[in-house]
Amino acid sequence: MMDNLSPEIWRLQAAVGLILAYALMCWRMYRKAALAGLPAPRPQPAAALAAVRGKPVWIIHASQTGQAEALARQAARALEKEGVEVIQRRIDQPWLDEVSAARHVLFVVSTYGEGNPPDHAISFARTQLAAGPCAALRGLSYGVLALGDRSYPQFCAFGRQLDQWLQQSGASACFPRIDADRLDALSLKRWQQALQGLGVHTPLLTPPLDAGYTEWRFIRRRCLNSGSPGAPLFKLELQPQAGLPPHWQAGDLIDLTPPGGDGRPRSYSIANLPEDGHLELIVRSVRRADGQPGLASGWLNETAWANDRVSLRIRRNPGFNLECGVDTPLILIGAGSGLAGLRSHLQARARAIADSGQPAPERSAWLIFGERSERHDRPCHSELEAWRRSRVLSRLDLTFSRDDPIRAYVQHALLEEAQAFRQWIAAGAQLLICGSAQGMAQGVEQAMREILGDEGLEQLRAAGRIRRDVY
Ligand SMILES: Cc1cc2nc3c(=O)[nH]c(=O)nc-3n(C[C@H](O)[C@H](O)[C@H](O)COP(=O)(O)OP(=O)(O)OC[C@H]3O[C@@H](n4cnc5c(N)ncnc54)[C@H](O)[C@@H]3O)c2cc1C
Ligand SMILES: Cc1cc2nc3c(=O)[nH]c(=O)nc-3n(C[C@H](O)[C@H](O)[C@H](O)COP(=O)(O)O)c2cc1C
Repeated sequence: MMDNLSPEIWRLQAAVGLILAYALMCWRMYRKAALAGLPAPRPQPAAALAAVRGKPVWIIHASQTGQAEALARQAARALEKEGVEVIQRRIDQPWLDEVSAARHVLFVVSTYGEGNPPDHAISFARTQLAAGPCAALRGLSYGVLALGDRSYPQFCAFGRQLDQWLQQSGASACFPRIDADRLDALSLKRWQQALQGLGVHTPLLTPPLDAGYTEWRFIRRRCLNSGSPGAPLFKLELQPQAGLPPHWQAGDLIDLTPPGGDGRPRSYSIANLPEDGHLELIVRSVRRADGQPGLASGWLNETAWANDRVSLRIRRNPGFNLECGVDTPLILIGAGSGLAGLRSHLQARARAIADSGQPAPERSAWLIFGERSERHDRPCHSELEAWRRSRVLSRLDLTFSRDDPIRAYVQHALLEEAQAFRQWIAAGAQLLICGSAQGMAQGVEQAMREILGDEGLEQLRAAGRIRRDVY
């Protein structure tokens, strides 16, 4: 029996041996491949952190309407969560003297006007970038996230200029400059990857700028310029779908995306304060090149019905907020729909005077406002007159460009009142400019340069005494 079984047992043993040998060979091959290192093991947070610990990461922003600032803040929080020390500065605050101690310096900057830096960065660009290479930056590791919009001819011009200056100064980029076109998703993904390289492993809640949309109701609109030779201007009222309006401060903006459009949000200056219990806008009807109404202004001014839902988000606008009290005189300059942003500041001034229990100071606020025709274009006329009577407005200068063959605009009114303007500036006035960037704001800039000189204007700017909401 044994003799009969033994060949079978022998065959079975041989088969098991073969299987084991094959398994061993497979395991060895697998182990070799794994040790060859592909795919590369994910960098351990501890290893990445060891590289950046000890030396802080600096994050420097230049932002007009707060988007670059929000992204900079978000990056700072993400790095801090991983235990990285972060120092955050606005580009015009002192940083050049200390930055050599940084492991990396990240810049998040937008472009404004026609390829210009944001307002608060203009002096920095004039003094530092224009002076050429900066020795303090030699050997520094940096990265630039440039915000812009490709529909402008000078796409991301300030971010590019800054990048070039950093390179010329002997700093080296730790990732290629990211040029974001209206915060496009791919650029924000690249930014996220760049931060991963510095040790951020939890995904950013991108974009932080999509946050904060809430549901509102369209309540009513009222035309402010019937019979005007210009395009219609409407005052609109919106109310939160539920509860009271959230907080905002004079100078803030809203973003809304018109229904059925291109998905691109439009910004509008808020024309009142939350204490009213609703939100107001002043919107000019815009026509597109093909004669069709603008998507957002057409919807708001022509199509929207009472109780229509509006999804909007309130956005801080640091370049147009104010921190000063009633003792600081205000010079407010604007035209057309620019009245929106100025009106919220006038409301705030009226409230502050009422709360102070004192009469309005001698120089409280001076509004220089331009429209087309005196007969038809007097937006918020009775309200402005009431403020003049109560001395919230110490001066009101209105210019009408179509009433006279010699077209007069706000910049001409300013030049005519140069003496008074100098006196108000000498008394510490803060300037607020709101409305069209090309026609109005450029003209006002030139007029102020004529009145105050290059240096006087730059001093005002550097002191943060010129706040603008121009578009
Ligand atoms: C920070 C900021 C604040 C703003 N605040 C206000 C405000 O308080 N009130 C207000 O009315 N607008 C304001 N705007 C402008 C607003 O965001 C829209 O650009 C404007 O309403 C046109 O959008 P639309 O969808 O109607 O036009 P679209 O469908 O986008 O069509 C725009 C077309 O009109 C042209 N166009 C765009 N804007 C203007 C303009 N302002 N004047 C003339 N032509 C233009 C473009 O070249 C394009 O051909 C603000 C813009 C910014 C960036
Ligand atoms: C009036 C105005 C002018 C602008 N000019 C430019 C420009 O010249 N080049 C550009 O790339 N982007 C331009 N932009 C787009 C902004 O850079 C872009 O919206 C950016 O996201 C704003 O970021 P911020 O909120 O941090 O300032 C302009 C935007 C506005 C409203």
